[in-house]
Formats: sequence, structure tokens, C-alpha cells
Amino acid sequence: MSQPVGVLFVCLGNICRSPTAEGVFRARAEQAGLAGRLRIDSAGTAGWHAGKPPDPRTVKHALERGYDLSALRARQVKAGDLRDFDYVLAMDHDNRNMLLRMATPAQRDRVTMFLDYAPGCGLREVPDPYYGDANDFRRVLNLAEQAADGLLAHLRERLHG
Ligand code: 4NP
Repeated sequence: MSQPVGVLFVCLGNICRSPTAEGVFRARAEQAGLAGRLRIDSAGTAGWHAGKPPDPRTVKHALERGYDLSALRARQVKAGDLRDFDYVLAMDHDNRNMLLRMATPAQRDRVTMFLDYAPGCGLREVPDPYYGDANDFRRVLNLAEQAADGLLAHLRERLHG
């Protein structure tokens, strides 16, 4: 069996957007029977919330759609992640720029925008819901579902192609 393909979702705090992306993508990968071929994780460019579960609003809205994020714990992204993960998916341009600064020239291609896997959504950044309301958290879920499907289609080709 070949090495798992590493997929890392990155936002600022690792308590709202990237844990949502991680949970949605893991559920989709499990449904597709691909989870065993993938290593899935998330991290934040800031370490403020390291060790904490996702924001309670993130957990609540995700659970309403059947995604249980309660076991996730925040961590800060580290240089080794650019080596260990094949896909490093940024939620916004600030995250992307930070990741590109951490990457060696050979690792830069690993860093992409998560929403580039949802070209129909009309956005490139997942808006930060931290200071927002319930609709902002639901929008994160909508975007994560769309981009997770696009990413999974891409990976299915790579793994089966
Ligand atoms: P996230 O959201 O990057 O989607 O996890 C945020 C979480 C925490 C903060 C900002 C954004 N904060 O300022 O603590």
C-alpha cells in the first residue's frame, strides 16, 4: 500500500474554519471509502488557541449537519507540516502568505487556496466567522462542503487515476 496522501487545512486560529473543513472533508472521504488512503489534519497560523477544542459555535453548527468536531484540538502550523502534508489548504490569503513564507521553494506548490476546489462559489477566501453570527458559521459549512467535494474529486483521480 502506498503512503497516505496528507491533507492539511489551515486558518488563523484553528477553531472555526479549518476544523470545519477538516470535519467535513473527513466525513466525505469516509463516505467515499478513501479515508484510509489519506492523512487529514488542520492547524492555525496563530497559536493562541492551541490545545483547545473548536469554538462552541463551530461545534454547534457543524453538529446540526451531522459533523462531530468535539474531539478536535487546535494546534499551530509548523515548518514540518510543509514537508509532511502534500496538500496545505489555506482558508484566506493571509494564511496562504504565512504558509508560503514557511515553505521552501520546492514546497510552495503544496500551498493552495481551499476554495479553488469550489470554483463555482465565486469566492477565493472563506470569510472568518469569529466576530460574526450564525449565518456566518453556516456559510463556512456551505463553502467547506462545496470545496471538500471538489478536493475529493481531485484526489479520487489522483488515487485511482
Ligand atoms: P479561525 O477563526 O481562523 O477560522 O479559527 C478565528 C479564531 C480566533 C480568532 C480569529 C479568527 N481570534 O482572534 O482569536
